[in-house]
Amino acid sequence: MLNIFRGKRQFQNLDWMQIDMHSHILPGLDDGASTLADGLQLMERLNALGIQKFFFTPHIFQGMYPNTTQGIANAYELVLGSNYTEMAAGFAAEYMVDTFFDSLLQSGEKLATLPNNQILIEMSYIQESSLIEKVIFDLQMQGYKPILAHPERYVFYHGNIKAIQRLRELGCLLQLNLLSLYGYYGPNEKKTARLLSEKGLVDLVGTDIHHMRHVKALEHWIRKEDLWPYFKRCNLQNQALYDIAYA
Ligand SMILES: [Fe+2]
Repeated sequence: MLNIFRGKRQFQNLDWMQIDMHSHILPGLDDGASTLADGLQLMERLNALGIQKFFFTPHIFQGMYPNTTQGIANAYELVLGSNYTEMAAGFAAEYMVDTFFDSLLQSGEKLATLPNNQILIEMSYIQESSLIEKVIFDLQMQGYKPILAHPERYVFYHGNIKAIQRLRELGCLLQLNLLSLYGYYGPNEKKTARLLSEKGLVDLVGTDIHHMRHVKALEHWIRKEDLWPYFKRCNLQNQALYDIAYA
């Protein structure tokens, strides 16, 4: 018997995600968009896939991208002055966990956060930071809520989901990159991403969009495989993040 419900949905998209909380769209700050026009084009294409609002999170990584909250705020103003202002939800940063970050944290200077004092952190992909557990603890002591960016991309955690789970048990939320689920960054990243989502360990999802190649990869793969089913066991907080900011 013909089953009309057997076929895949024709218009798979990112409607379910609504809010992107990890992106490198603000111009001229890091390895993301270099010009405002480039950044706006990324937003436009992602919006066509169903993402309604964006939080902008440029790298703060002393030595590579020595950004400041003020510098990020200035770039954010450019988006607010464009025709895309309605898609702009706010800005924060993606902080590299290193000795510079540790001293910044100890200085008591207010860090660039997402709503609800949530703060996005990352590590080197090839070597775990010896400071990671200390930073997760210290951040919480100061009232911040840490979110580890793309845990599936750290090679030292491949084959060791328990190590990632431990960080979550220490109070660090986990943010998965959508493209990891498609294998964009490699097979181990894909396997780890799928394991994390299937086990319900993912708290937030992001595009981590840097350039048009990322957008085109998403556009390509989303036609082949819907991502929403991976998160059935997860309690995603993307929408909540926006609601906290704009309630
Ligand atoms: Fe990022």
